[in-house]
Parts: sequence; C-alpha cells; structure tokens
Amino acid sequence: MTAIPASAASRPDSGGASPSVPRHVAIIMDGNGRWAKKRGLPRAAGHKAGAESVRKVLKAAGEAGVQCLTLYAFSSENWRRPETEISDLMGLLRFYLKAELSALHKQGVRIKIIGDYKVFPEDIVKMLEDAMALTAGNDRLTLAVALNYGSRDEMARAARILAGQVAAGSMKADAITPEAVDNLLYTADLPPLDLLIRTSGECRLSNFLLWQAAYAEMLFVDTLWPDFGGEAFRGALDDFARRERRYGGL
Ligand code: IPE
Ligand code: IPE
Ligand code: MG
Repeated sequence: MTAIPASAASRPDSGGASPSVPRHVAIIMDGNGRWAKKRGLPRAAGHKAGAESVRKVLKAAGEAGVQCLTLYAFSSENWRRPETEISDLMGLLRFYLKAELSALHKQGVRIKIIGDYKVFPEDIVKMLEDAMALTAGNDRLTLAVALNYGSRDEMARAARILAGQVAAGSMKADAITPEAVDNLLYTADLPPLDLLIRTSGECRLSNFLLWQAAYAEMLFVDTLWPDFGGEAFRGALDDFARRERRYGGL
C-alpha cells in the first residue's frame, strides 16, 4: 500500500490521491456519427476514430493519477440502431480487445465490464471474461467499460436482488439503505464518481450512472468524441480542480 499524504488523508473520499485529481471519471463518448458525417465518411469510420480517442484518454488518465475511468461504449438503448451499425460496433470491440489487451495488461490496467454484457455474441463474452480474468490483479488504473449498460436496469436489478433477500428472510426491509443499494450496483467496487464528462454538445445522461452521479461534477463539452484526446482530457481535469464541492454542506 502506498502512503497517504497527510493533507489527503484528512479528506474522507480522497483515497490518497491529491483531492484535486478525480479518482473516478466517467465519459459518455458521444459524437462519432456526426464526426464521420462531417467528413462524408460512414458512421463506422467515426466509431473507429473514437477507439483512438479511448487510447489517448486512457493514457492521459493514467498519467494524471486517475484511479478509475468508466466509459459508456454501448447503452441498453443502442440496440435500437440498425443491425449493420451494431455489428460494426461489435467488430470494433473484438478488434480493440485483441489489439490492446496485452498492452493494457502490461500497463497495469484492470478491465471491468459493467452492464449486461452476457447477451453479446458468445465469442465476445468469452473475450471480455478472459480480459477481466487476466487483468483482475492489476491496480494502476481500472478501466470500466459499460456494455449493454442502462442505469435503470442496474437499479431494478439491485431492487430485485434485495426483494429476493427480503423474501428469503436474509435481509430486513428496514436495512435497505442507500449503502445497501450501492453495494449491489455494478460499480460497487469502484471509487465514488467524481467527474462525468459528455462530449458532442448533448446535455443529457442517456441512462448512464444516474445513481452514481448524485454528487458527481458534470462537464458537457461540444467536442465530438473522435476529436477528444489527451489535451482535452487534461483540460477537463483542470476544470474539475477549480470546482468547489459542497455535498449539501457549506
Ligand atoms: C457514440 O457516438 C458512440 C455510441 C453510442 C456507440 P454516436 O454513434 O452516438 O454518434 P452521434 O451521436 O450519432 O454523432
Ligand atoms: C449514449 O449516446 C450512449 C453511448 C455513448 C454509448 P447515444 O448517442 O446513444 O445517446 P442519445 O441517443 O443521443 O441520448
Ligand atoms: Mg450519439
């Protein structure tokens, strides 16, 4: 374990890092399609360019000392897209996993998948589970990838589990506290969400981390995801460092 500096140790949620650096950053990576359209390219080209941004942002996050980066890659509503686009996205996921896994592992990245990824094609499920198993012991940075993720599904799932426990007598209804719910979310083992970024100018959460964002700082930027890189990420961290968080206090 690394030593916690005195100044950081006095802050409840700072976990040893400088409080001005967010421990947990989540990104709604939006705007790939519009990026491609502007260039007269197929939407798939935008997604491919977006995968490059992931590489750059992950590197910048590691260098800045961010502990966890959560990326919204496929929402539970993205099944509404044309089949061809869905299969392009699956193809890209396969390609990215194959190409990057060993480098991510060498860099000490722990891969975690949040969302109901088991409905994906069998080969992808296996690749994801292998990636999680391979990197489970890494602790430099956690990369949480949201796949077939929907925040309302996640909360309903927690409610179902709690209801089952109450029915079985292993849990009292009175014991259903925010902490009990929190412990049943996909993000239970991740640090509290500090900063949530959405690219492409849309100012909505699109069913992403609704519970976890209760006290997160929000940053909506106009940049399209494929144009967002290390510098833009560092700019977002600078913005975060200037925020004053009050959590309802003074
Ligand atoms: C985000 O880019 C990537 C995914 C949702 C997978 P979009 O594909 O939503 O791009 P726009 O919003 O159409 O520009
Ligand atoms: C949110 O983007 C999902 C991801 C980035 C994976 P969308 O492009 O799907 O969101 P809406 O449809 O504009 O709300
Ligand atoms: Mg979009």
